[in-house]
Amino acid sequence: MIKPFYYKDGTFHILDQRLLPNEETWIACKTADQVAEAIKTLAVRGAPAIGIAAAYGLALAAPLGKKAVEEASAFLVRARPTAVNLEWAVRRMLAVSDNSGDLFASLLEEAQKIWKEEIQANEAMADAGADLFKTGARYRILTHCNAGSLATGGIGTAVGVIRRLHEQGKLERVYMDETRPLLQGARITAHEMVSDNIPATLITDSMAGWLMKLSKIDAVIVGADRIARNLDVANKIGTYSLAVLSHAHKIPFYIVAPESTFDPNTQSGEEIVIEQRDEKEVTCFHGVVCAPDVDVFNPSFDVTPHHLITAIITQEKVYTPG
Ligand code: MRU
Repeated sequence: MIKPFYYKDGTFHILDQRLLPNEETWIACKTADQVAEAIKTLAVRGAPAIGIAAAYGLALAAPLGKKAVEEASAFLVRARPTAVNLEWAVRRMLAVSDNSGDLFASLLEEAQKIWKEEIQANEAMADAGADLFKTGARYRILTHCNAGSLATGGIGTAVGVIRRLHEQGKLERVYMDETRPLLQGARITAHEMVSDNIPATLITDSMAGWLMKLSKIDAVIVGADRIARNLDVANKIGTYSLAVLSHAHKIPFYIVAPESTFDPNTQSGEEIVIEQRDEKEVTCFHGVVCAPDVDVFNPSFDVTPHHLITAIITQEKVYTPG
């Protein structure tokens, strides 16, 4: 399975996901600044993965001392605003930096621990998610964006459940939305599915409703970037539309996310800050301008109200908000 990063001898190597599936290029980060830049530019993306990357970024800052770690934590948290896993990981690292002893050794150890826990959480979510589907039946699942190994460093959240369904003989086929504007579904999820020989079909985002109308989807499974206290969920733009479509077609709509995606400080989805990205992501395609000089709305995420969610699956429990 493809990993989004690895650490070796003082360097954190990040697979540049912007170039997938055509090129496998690694960015060698020696500073927290370089890690923050990789997060900002989506070289590394996906809520749990950016949390883990930020943790390693702080370990890279540790040889410069505690003040450098504090400064790095401030700019790493600002790299992207919506996925709460980023600030969750940074807070965990800062708590460790208060301990006495070798700062670098303890921060590196904590970053490794965060990654290892994520891998274990992915496995537990895959088991719990797959248990919701009957043995003996084969399901057609729709997913959006990429909530796979490249978004988590493990087997994935939503894609982890899909992988487990496949292992258990319960998956007929996964349908993947291409996920405009940056095509995480087409470039990354499709790449993961093809690499694992999982039967998969790529569609454009606008085809999902029609596929449901044709009775070709049994369940929708997606990841999350932040879950509010009332169980409203922020995830990649387009998720809300899928939830509405699922509701209209009476199809179960599942969120799969680790407990670290819950934000105890956010009461409802209305309080979640949605990242707005460069208009060129919409007006250009692979660097080629494909729209006139026009106003653009480019939110990176949307919020699905809890009443549209059948279940939220974490490594600890299954919440049923809908
Ligand atoms: O902008 P991205 O690619 O970071 O958005 C990713 C998503 O929205 C994922 O669904 C989410 O982070 C969960 S990843 C396990």
